Amino acid sequence: MFITSLLAIGLAPLLAAAQLSGRVGPTTPHATKAAHKTCSVLDYGGKADNTTDIGPAISSAWDACKSGGVVYIPPGNYALETWVSLTGGTSTAICMDGIIYRTGTEGGNMIFIEHTSDFELFSSTSKGAVQGFGYVFHREGSLTGPRILRLYEVTDFSVHDLALVDSPSFHFSMDTCENGEVYNMAIRGGNSGGLDGIDVWSTNVWVHDIEVTNKDECSPSQNILVESIYCNWSGGCAMGSLAADTNISDVTYRNVYTWSSNQMYMVKSNGGSGTVSNLLLQNFIGHGNAYSLDIDQAWSSMETAAGNGVQLDNITITNWKGTEADGAQRGPIKVNCASGAPCTDITIEDFAMWTEEGDSQWYSCENAYGSGACLKDGDDYTTYTTTMTVTAAPSGYSAPTMASDLSTAFRTGMPIPIPAIPTSFYPGATPYSSLAGAQSTSV
Ligand SMILES: *[C@@H]1O[C@H](CO)[C@@H](O)[C@H](O)[C@H]1NC(C)=O
Ligand SMILES: *[C@@H]1O[C@H](CO)[C@@H](O)[C@H](O)[C@H]1NC(C)=O
Ligand SMILES: *[C@@H]1O[C@H](CO)[C@@H](O)[C@H](O)[C@H]1NC(C)=O
Ligand SMILES: *[C@@H]1O[C@H](CO)[C@@H](O)[C@H](O)[C@H]1NC(C)=O
Repeated sequence: MFITSLLAIGLAPLLAAAQLSGRVGPTTPHATKAAHKTCSVLDYGGKADNTTDIGPAISSAWDACKSGGVVYIPPGNYALETWVSLTGGTSTAICMDGIIYRTGTEGGNMIFIEHTSDFELFSSTSKGAVQGFGYVFHREGSLTGPRILRLYEVTDFSVHDLALVDSPSFHFSMDTCENGEVYNMAIRGGNSGGLDGIDVWSTNVWVHDIEVTNKDECSPSQNILVESIYCNWSGGCAMGSLAADTNISDVTYRNVYTWSSNQMYMVKSNGGSGTVSNLLLQNFIGHGNAYSLDIDQAWSSMETAAGNGVQLDNITITNWKGTEADGAQRGPIKVNCASGAPCTDITIEDFAMWTEEGDSQWYSCENAYGSGACLKDGDDYTTYTTTMTVTAAPSGYSAPTMASDLSTAFRTGMPIPIPAIPTSFYPGATPYSSLAGAQSTSV
């Protein structure tokens, strides 16, 4: 069974092209931009003394280089006290080889980039990082501190080879962006809800080779491809919370390894309207997770939204392996669709998961039509509820683990160390692009 995954990994670049609606990433290489102009923050008042506020220097360097060039943050330690809002420009990059430590306390976004195109944010050494020190907020019970990174209306861009650590709030969100590539990143946050890893509300985005320790959520989006994701004690991957006028289509998640998380994949909504269609969840390995496949359209943690339910159509779950924490308590298949909008054309195939605790597990289906597990076939689309109890391990459920699985979660009241970016994000797979720090390019 593992061979199947390896083959799929080998074939993935071809499939990737089919899933996305067009090219992604910056149109000009950063070396060309750097040859045109390089604006080092050290020439704009910045100091790598871990005390001087680097915010104004980043803004000034951006203003000088935003019409074509690279803002350079050399290796070293920097304090960020005032947030930066970088607007406009084209054919730019920010090469962040230093480590930025949050010292300011405002809400909002520590680094906000908007209305720019042909843009790249990266570390040429793969050692650039932002340390958000979110624990200072979290130990007071607050999740309302700043986000680390937000991109808004950015097109033809990439973000890669950076570590984003311990955000007071969300780590990285993309809103109304287009043609993006996000890869070779480590996102490590506290063990709490509301500290999302990557949020995508965008079109034509390829997210691959990412390690996250919290939630990875997805909102109205088209043509999204998410691959080689390592959830190392995390919320797991999710789509939602979906509410009124949902419009999500052509989303693929492939090669997702999830360890000790809330779930392997969740779709969450409660009421609402609109559609989610053409979702493919392929090659998932899980160990020790609470939920595995969890489609919950009566999700009790959100207020009921207006509408009869979000219509889920053409959803394929294929090649899922591994073990769940306790399959009698939380079975590995839960497809609970809205009674006002039964799910259609759901396929569950090549699904072999077994419980780590006890010797039985359940599959539960509600108002869901298609094939596999407890799904009903046919097209009368009436409401129903059924639970199947499984008392023998499905053949071929065993699946590899990753060497660096966390043995305990990061707590929320203590500092979280900055990790090195991993060199593999899914068992047996190497990233599409080798780490920038392993290549000889630099600015
Ligand atoms: C930089 O300052 C932060 C406090 O803002 C401190 O925690 C960190 O250890 C310092 N980094 C270095 C390398 O001295
Ligand atoms: C859904 O989004 C796509 C792409 O943005 C758009 O073309 C389409 O009209 C939208 N459909 C609905 C029902 O809003
Ligand atoms: C169903 O979704 C898959 C992607 O998972 C897509 O390739 C296929 O074309 C869709 N089928 C229909 C009938 O839209
Ligand atoms: C997972 O967490 C452990 C414990 O902190 C860490 O050693 C390991 O590097 C993490 N895995 C990756 C791929 O970063």
